[in-house]
Amino acid sequence: MSKTVSLRIGTLELEVPFFQASLSGYTDYPMRMFARRYGCPFAIADVMLAKSVARPEVLAKACFQPGENEHPVGAQILGKTPAMMARAAKSLVAVGYDVVDVNCACPAPKVVRRGRGGAMLNDPDAVIDVLKAVRDSVQCPVMVKLRIGTDYSPCAQDNFWEIVSRAIDVGINAMVIHGRTVSERYRGKANWDILAAVKRRFPAATIIGSGDVFDARASIDLLKRTGLDGFVVARGAISNPWIFRDLRCIWEGREIPPGPDLAELRSIMLEHLDRVATGHAEHQAIGYFRKFIVGYAKRHPKRKHVLQTLLKAKTRKEVEEGIDAWYAGEDWPSVAGSR
Ligand SMILES: Cc1cc2nc3c(=O)[nH]c(=O)nc-3n(C[C@H](O)[C@H](O)[C@H](O)COP(=O)(O)O)c2cc1C
Repeated sequence: MSKTVSLRIGTLELEVPFFQASLSGYTDYPMRMFARRYGCPFAIADVMLAKSVARPEVLAKACFQPGENEHPVGAQILGKTPAMMARAAKSLVAVGYDVVDVNCACPAPKVVRRGRGGAMLNDPDAVIDVLKAVRDSVQCPVMVKLRIGTDYSPCAQDNFWEIVSRAIDVGINAMVIHGRTVSERYRGKANWDILAAVKRRFPAATIIGSGDVFDARASIDLLKRTGLDGFVVARGAISNPWIFRDLRCIWEGREIPPGPDLAELRSIMLEHLDRVATGHAEHQAIGYFRKFIVGYAKRHPKRKHVLQTLLKAKTRKEVEEGIDAWYAGEDWPSVAGSR
C-alpha cells in the first residue's frame, strides 16, 4: 500500500506535516530518539558551527554524528562563509545526514555579534551566497531556518521578503520560519499571520511554521487555518515526546490516549538518564539531565517536591533513587493530561 505523504521537503516525504525542530543543547540523539519513538517522522540535530564540523577530527566525535537507525535526520549548520558552509554540508552528508538546514535565525548575542545566524537577515546577498553554495555542494534536500526579520523596521521587513523570494529561486526545498524577529528573541507571541502571508505570496514553496507549538490540537488547527505546509515542534517537545503521539492522533482523526502515567514517566526518565550518562562523565551527565528533569516534573502532581529531591541529587544513583521514590506510582492519582 502506498503511504500518504503530508509534507514534502525535496525528495524527503513525511506522512505527517510536523517534525522535531533543532534545539541547541537539547536535540541530541536521546531526545531525537524519544521523539521518533512517539511518532515524530524526522528530526533536526543541534545546530553545528560549520567551521568546526568541516574539520574531520571534530566531526568524528559521537555528538556530531547521526545516531543508529535514525533516518531521516537533518543537520543544521551555522556560519557565514559560503565555501566553509558548503564544505561542512558535504561532510555532514558524507557521515549520513539526510537533509542540510542552514541557520539564519539564531538570536544569541554571541552568534549575532559575529554576523552569523539571525544577523545574516540584514544582508540578503550574504544569505543567498551561502544558500547557493550549500545547494550546489549536496544532492540531498536543503532547508533554511529564518525568523521574520531582524526587527519590524521597513528595511528589515524588505530584507526578509527578499530573502524568502531569492531562496526559492536558488532551489531551497523548504523554509522553516519562526514567527518572531531576531530582536524579539522569545518574547511575546509568535506572529503566524506573517507566516500565512508568506505562503499566500509563494504558494508553490514549502513553508513550515515555528513558534509557540505547545498544544497539539491548537497547533493542528493553526496549520489548517494558515495554509502552511507544516510546522516544527521545539520547546513543546522538551521532556514531552508524547506531543508527537497526540499530534499524530489528531492528524489521523484518532482519539488522543491518556497522558503517561507515573510508571511510564519513571521508565522514560530512567532510560533518558541512562542514555545521557553513556559517553559523559557522571557529574556532566547529571548537570545536563537537570533541564530534562524540570520538564518531566511538570506532569507530576507533587512537582515542587520532585524538583527539590531530584535537582539536589549529586550522583546518578541519587537521581535514580529520587525517581524511584517519586514515581513508584501506586499512591498517586493518574497524571493523564495534566501537563
Ligand atoms: C533553548 C533553545 C535552543 C534553540 N536552538 C535552536 C537551534 O539550534 N536551531 C534553530 O533553528 N532553532 C533553535 N531554536 C528555536 C526553535 O527551533 C524554535 O524555532 C523556537 O523555539 C520557536 O518555537 P517554540 O515557540 O514552539 O519553541 C532554539 C530555541 C530554544 C528555546
